[in-house]
Amino acid sequence: VWRRESLQKLTDKSKPQQRLRSRDWFANTERMDMTALYLERFMNYGVTPEELRSGKPIIGIAQSGSDLSPCNRIHVELAKRVRDGIRDSGGIPIEFPVHPIFENCRRPTAALDRNLLYLGLVELLNGYPLDGVVLTTGCDKTTPSQIMAASTVDIPAIVLSGGPMLDGWHEGELVGSGTVIWRSRRKLAAGEISEEEFLDRATDSAPSAGHCNSMGTASTMNAVAEALGMSLTGCAAIPAPYRERGQYAYRTGRRIVEMVEENLCPSRILTREAFLNAIAAVSVLGGSSNAQPHIQAMAAHAGVPLEPDVWQEHGYDLPLLVNMQPAGAYLGERFHRAGGVPAALWELLQAGKLYGDCLTCTGHTMAENLKGRESRDREMIRPFADPLMEKAGYLVMTGNLFDFGILKTSVISEEFRQRYLSRPGAENVFEARAIVFDGSDDYHHRINDPALQIDDNCILVVRGAGVIGWPGSAEVVNMQPPDALIRAGTQWLPTLGDGRQSGTSDSPSILNTSPESAVGGGLAWLRTGDVIRVDLNEGTCNALVEGDEIARRLEHEPAPPIPQSNTPWEELFREKTGQLGSGGVMDFALKYRGTSKKLPRH
Ligand code: FES
Ligand code: MG
Repeated sequence: VWRRESLQKLTDKSKPQQRLRSRDWFANTERMDMTALYLERFMNYGVTPEELRSGKPIIGIAQSGSDLSPCNRIHVELAKRVRDGIRDSGGIPIEFPVHPIFENCRRPTAALDRNLLYLGLVELLNGYPLDGVVLTTGCDKTTPSQIMAASTVDIPAIVLSGGPMLDGWHEGELVGSGTVIWRSRRKLAAGEISEEEFLDRATDSAPSAGHCNSMGTASTMNAVAEALGMSLTGCAAIPAPYRERGQYAYRTGRRIVEMVEENLCPSRILTREAFLNAIAAVSVLGGSSNAQPHIQAMAAHAGVPLEPDVWQEHGYDLPLLVNMQPAGAYLGERFHRAGGVPAALWELLQAGKLYGDCLTCTGHTMAENLKGRESRDREMIRPFADPLMEKAGYLVMTGNLFDFGILKTSVISEEFRQRYLSRPGAENVFEARAIVFDGSDDYHHRINDPALQIDDNCILVVRGAGVIGWPGSAEVVNMQPPDALIRAGTQWLPTLGDGRQSGTSDSPSILNTSPESAVGGGLAWLRTGDVIRVDLNEGTCNALVEGDEIARRLEHEPAPPIPQSNTPWEELFREKTGQLGSGGVMDFALKYRGTSKKLPRH
């Protein structure tokens, strides 16, 4: 069906022909001298001047894979299939690198790179003769950054996910990337495994090319791209080494040429309804808490106002349907075999919780794409009426410590619920003594200090981990209890912080709090020993400290330390980037939208 439809579209001569922006470079009769200059260097690898001047659309392949970006490295291979697809549809492929991002290895945090890749890609898409682009995505921030850039420039763009790794197995047990680290870390602290065993568990969780195989930020954001309508139906969940991955690469290449002919730009796809669909998808997937700033940022660059409460209003009431680590049991291969993202979205559509009319990159509506996509593996993708958990989305929190924070409820364990959220007469309410750390080094140095007397009535707080404080905002809020407490059976303490946490973490944290302590948020005046009251019914988190005392601390006690910037970009990033609650975007960039409509001068 897909082939027939695309052939029909290709041969539909009734469509008005677009003047391609690349023509201004390669077929400019007024400035023949410039055209000659532009043309000569492309001949070196088989593109002829005649072809470049012929009016064929020139399609960029934004290459995010490299040795520095191993989660996306499969794209180095996939790009060949993309090229074939582009060629077979009559386009000319031009592949180029984008700023590499590798979540795990980048210091002080890969979060510095999302906006950097964004800035770089805007310049590439805007300043070169490109009529459309294939965005190659995978590792966490490589997806939102590229969609943000495509939005700003607004040329036809389609996402090709690299796909997750194969499932990880260790001694007969499924071990998901990331999640296995947090779980093994607790086992190590409890003395249940050796350091060698820890390393074995970690490497076993990563058996092939691909991005994280759990429902961490990578799987979440690629699913979000699909839910937004930015990638072919069924693209996100195909494991990187599977045959279908190469086929989708080819089809993505074919489709982007058609999208150029149809002038199907991101501004026609990325509507408010599309973003609400993405938020709903994150809820039923048990998706990463990093989806909050990333979706917020993509919406901001698309010019779609998304008030922070939208996370609770359009996501919290939805159930958890996808049984994938860290909220569930399985990993990416089974998710794909069970039907992947379309099957999860199908449940939402049937339940009336998805906007089916949204236009997608396929040229069809979301509802049309999802026809016949019901899952047959009900252990993996549960029916809407029989979920893994009711009300499993994000709670939006507020109080005297911050204006905005979120709590991912799908990872709250039964053990944690029993201990903190089930007091008779005060369900979902608890009070705890704060233990405050200035950044993660301070946490690691002091967490096992007996003088802190940390017990089950404590909440671990980390500050200085936000956009400005870190800088970049670090994944450090998922702090584990002291070793002694873990050995005594406490797997989780409540945690709170102005940083983020890994999407693969199962920590019940209040995080992404904005404003952060480094810009005067309430965590700055919080002290170890203060009592914090968390009320999930009201969505509040308050330190029980009198106003006079807060004022005294602010006036007489020093503000928490902030490290100096170490690179030029860190300094510029700090100057220009906003808080996590509004997506951590560079506000000044939001006024640039649809830049491709105005051609850059020679
Ligand atoms: Fe790159 Fe998880 S670390 S996808
Ligand atoms: Mg991450």
